[in-house]
Amino acid sequence: MDLGIAGKRAVVCASSAGLGRACAEELARAGAIVVLNGRRADALEATAQSIRDETGADVRTVTGSVADVDVQEALIAAADGAVDILVNNNGGPPFRDFAAVDDDAIREGVENNMVTPIALVRRVLDGMVERRFGRIVNITSASVKTPLAGLDVSSGARAGLTGFLAGIAREVAHANVTINFLLPGSFDTDRLQSGQTLSAEASGRTVAEVRETAAATIPAQRFGFPEEFGAACAFLASDRAGYITGQSLLIDGGAYRGIL
Ligand SMILES: NC(=O)c1ccc[n+]([C@@H]2O[C@H](COP(=O)([O-])OP(=O)(O)OC[C@H]3O[C@@H](n4cnc5c(N)ncnc54)[C@H](OP(=O)(O)O)[C@@H]3O)[C@@H](O)[C@H]2O)c1
Repeated sequence: MDLGIAGKRAVVCASSAGLGRACAEELARAGAIVVLNGRRADALEATAQSIRDETGADVRTVTGSVADVDVQEALIAAADGAVDILVNNNGGPPFRDFAAVDDDAIREGVENNMVTPIALVRRVLDGMVERRFGRIVNITSASVKTPLAGLDVSSGARAGLTGFLAGIAREVAHANVTINFLLPGSFDTDRLQSGQTLSAEASGRTVAEVRETAAATIPAQRFGFPEEFGAACAFLASDRAGYITGQSLLIDGGAYRGIL
């Protein structure tokens, strides 16, 4: 399928690894100009070069935390000031018992996973409306639909983001600007693997045992491949998806047992 986004400018936040990288790769394969971002300059440049080599796409980089205002400005500037596709992503709050969550941890989570993506939407939205094309994809979490104890900050901040942008999505739909949400279940990224390593250490099991037990709880009997996530992101970012807006798409191998 031709996604119809060749030459469009895409900013993919937090994209030197994991789900963000997978989204950037798929957008580059579709011919978009892609701006990558991450805090570790060496990892970011290595990823950018790898995507250039594979796709031949124009891949640009901005180093630094996406929560920083100057980094946000640099991301827009790297897309020549005209962002057509914005993929909002950031690191997620750590797993932490509610008793250990203080006000600073809550503020940090809300800043990273709600305030920062809204700030980026604010920066790109008017231009998208003027140009009559815009695709905003927010990477949130399955925890928006199925909150998990220990991920309370994540669930709350991401549900807040989803609610905040829901009304805005309807306000800009007339201008071919869409705002959607991708909710990952368990995808085999560094983040998932580091959590499994900690869980193995805490329980005295091997990492392989922890992975096997976790995968067995998922109807698909495996973790998601990041490229499966990237493909869904590229579709929502495509010209073909102009009639899908304000939606949350759960990608979890069937782990969520409800039908709505
Ligand atoms: N993987 C899953 O199964 C899963 C499930 C539910 C939700 N999620 C959520 O999805 C998001 C992505 O997860 P992931 O598994 O892809 O994580 P990951 O493998 O740890 O990758 C995170 C990426 O984000 C970058 N990053 C982190 N903080 C950043 C910041 N402040 N500014 C700019 N870049 C930053 C990292 O690079 P640097 O460290 O160099 O900055 C890295 O490229 C997270 O919010 C996570 O909580 C993931």
